[in-house]
Amino acid sequence: MKISKRLKAIAHYVEDNSNVIDVGCDHALLDIYLVKNKKNIQIIASDIKENPLQKAKENIEKYHVEDKIKLSLADGLEKLDTKTDTILISGMGYFTIRNILKKGNLTNIKTLIISINENFNLLKKLIKKIGFSIQYEQIIEDHNKFYIIIKAVKGRKRYSNQKIYNEEYQKYLKYVLNKKESIIKKIPKRKRLLRLKLRKEIKKINSQLK
Ligand SMILES: C[S@@+](CC[C@H](N)C(=O)[O-])C[C@H]1O[C@@H](n2cnc3c(N)ncnc32)[C@H](O)[C@@H]1O
Repeated sequence: MKISKRLKAIAHYVEDNSNVIDVGCDHALLDIYLVKNKKNIQIIASDIKENPLQKAKENIEKYHVEDKIKLSLADGLEKLDTKTDTILISGMGYFTIRNILKKGNLTNIKTLIISINENFNLLKKLIKKIGFSIQYEQIIEDHNKFYIIIKAVKGRKRYSNQKIYNEEYQKYLKYVLNKKESIIKKIPKRKRLLRLKLRKEIKKINSQLK
């Protein structure tokens, strides 16, 4: 089956033998791809709305994976199974993700795989704050939008963050650089502190550009 470049990149980070909840599964295409391409995966495909779950049900039946994907109508992690060890969240805004993670019981969770297309730094801070350390961080571009994909594991500093410094990451840095340069041009000279802060950020990005 074919799925988007973004979903395929997210799937890459799911380990064999995982017990996954996909929060906000919508069509469940990612989940179907996972059970078909990874070994021994069980998934709870969960969504807050009935319509997406109906779509998910039809897709799950179409691909005959009913034994590996269970559907759940739930807000965030409210119906979390104690066996679940991996949380997958993609395609939602930062504040929704924050609410879901803050309200959820993460006791048995070993791995978070989260993808977002805004507020990358806030998400990274949140992940650390709730007791996980980032193992991998990758930027991808799909349909003219940049997304970050983060894989984090329970515990502090168990791994050093392995950023994937590929061409897309460079392209993203250039995009952020251009944005910051156009912002600084609009800031009045008297706002020295703000301009200084931005200049420092621009310098840092320039040092990372190849
Ligand atoms: C844009 S879709 C993303 C679908 C898929 N995860 C992806 O990345 O393509 C967002 C889905 O999240 C669901 N959603 C939003 N808030 C939620 C919440 N608090 N709990 C569970 N699902 C939620 C929506 O109903 C919608 O189906």
